[in-house]
Amino acid sequence: MEIFAIPAFTDNYIWAVVEKDQFVVVDPGDSLVVKEFAEKNNLQLRAILITHWHPDHTGGIIELVKDKSISVYGPKGGHIDGITDELKEGDSIRIFDNEFSIFETPGHTLDHISYFSNENKPILFCGDTLFSGGCGRLFEGTPDQMFHSLNKFSSLPGNTKVYCTHEYTLSNLKFALEVEPKNQDLINYYDQVVEKRDRNEYTLPSTIEKELNINPFLRSSIEEVRKSAELYSSKANLDDVGVLAVIRSWKDNF
Ligand SMILES: [Fe+2]
Repeated sequence: MEIFAIPAFTDNYIWAVVEKDQFVVVDPGDSLVVKEFAEKNNLQLRAILITHWHPDHTGGIIELVKDKSISVYGPKGGHIDGITDELKEGDSIRIFDNEFSIFETPGHTLDHISYFSNENKPILFCGDTLFSGGCGRLFEGTPDQMFHSLNKFSSLPGNTKVYCTHEYTLSNLKFALEVEPKNQDLINYYDQVVEKRDRNEYTLPSTIEKELNINPFLRSSIEEVRKSAELYSSKANLDDVGVLAVIRSWKDNF
């Protein structure tokens, strides 16, 4: 099983999980690039995984399943056209040889789910919940919900590969450096990402270990992050959720 990025729109990645002559895609916002990928590599689409309802993650479903019987896994609620298998916290599905467990991860949207497999090498498809160096905007959920969603990821194995849906890393790291200007891991990672983007390379997947070291949204309990949030908001004694709330709205205005 190998995982490839299919770039879509300006900065989306549609992840393709390939096994022999078959593949599964995660969040196909655009059917055209998925069809091109299939034709170029002689692959049959076997299933679709959806993390949340936003059109840049779901827009290609109907076209891709036309005249075919393809399982489309996604959040429960009946609000996304084309979903055949609704999933909730604790469910699990099999994709090729890997079992994926489902986490409900509300915050960016209320319906957001993520897919984690701990077989062979651990893999996380986290949609727009976690980005490298950042997290999704709180369009529908609360800071408290996002905090608990991100906490589910923090306890995953450090070597878990994190497949986020957008190439936002560089701009996220510019913000992260405002929050933690003295974090040496962050400074080093920023330099690497600048070089990668100069060469037009993808910065994803990341890993949980990397994110725990550099991503301020996973680091609300770290002293420097809390102090920065308190300084920015002119509030004292913020708890971890309060820190996350402040840095999320700080980032929204950054
Ligand atoms: Fe989204």
